[in-house]
Amino acid sequence: MESEKAFFKDSGVAIITLNRPKALNALCKQLVQELGQVVSLCEKDPSVRVMIITGSQKAFAAGADIKEMSTMTAMQVYNENLFGELDAVSKARKPVIAAVNGFALGGGCELAMMCDFIVAGENAKFGQPEIKLGTIPGIGGTQRLTKAIGKAKAMEWNLTGDLHDAVEAEKAGLVSRIVKTEQLLEETLKIAEKIASYSQPIAALAKECVNKAHETGLQEGLVFERRVFMSTFASKDQKEGMSAFAEKRTPKFVDE
Ligand code: CAA
Repeated sequence: MESEKAFFKDSGVAIITLNRPKALNALCKQLVQELGQVVSLCEKDPSVRVMIITGSQKAFAAGADIKEMSTMTAMQVYNENLFGELDAVSKARKPVIAAVNGFALGGGCELAMMCDFIVAGENAKFGQPEIKLGTIPGIGGTQRLTKAIGKAKAMEWNLTGDLHDAVEAEKAGLVSRIVKTEQLLEETLKIAEKIASYSQPIAALAKECVNKAHETGLQEGLVFERRVFMSTFASKDQKEGMSAFAEKRTPKFVDE
């Protein structure tokens, strides 16, 4: 297996580890296919509440597999819908966190951005170096990056192909927080377990609303949020969460 669902925690967190060390986890077709399958399986598996996608200390993923792509024709790329299987990540209803150490370049940076948020180790390096290869990003590097860090920085990152360290990425708003390299998984797990402890449908609705902010204008997004907020009042978990607060006890969510 090029990617593997390394292990499940009892707490409902699935850790998916990209495992292609010889090529710094470059996203070859097999890896992409397996990753898409594992994410789809986790989506369907009721014991999984949150996913973490991670790589190694040296590389989250150093991009799409350049060697594999180098001889492909435009029609092959189109007919195979190259990287289409990664849509499983961006379309997941369950929260997906990218835990990034080392290189997250090109398709690697794009994969991290397909996740809901990125936790970076101190040694993380991000970038969209496709321009150096005579191509451009193909999995969202011009789109999601621009939404994440704004036009000026996204333009510079895309046009220079330069690498950016974790501090710069956090300042730009690409990553939500930086942790020590050696503690990346431990710290990300803490965040994932916190999310997993909440009502799963409510977390999915919150995620849907935040994503809506990217896809619509403010007024439309606010109306959508208000409707979803209202709909949470039809859930047992909203009743339980608010009663528990008033009764000074920990809520027991039932995902309903
Ligand atoms: N594709 C295929 N193989 C890759 C790769 C990639 N993206 N990145 C690294 N590798 C391979 C190297 O070829 C090398 O293999 P060999 O040992 O067989 O020579 C191995 O991984 C180790 O890499 P390096 O020896 O280069 O390691 P380094 O530490 O000296 O450099 C690096 C690390 C700076 C990340 C360098 O490997 C590099 O620049 N990689 C390419 C980064 C890149 O351009 N990514 C964008 C790809 S295009 C893309 O992603 C398009 C898209 O949007 C869909």
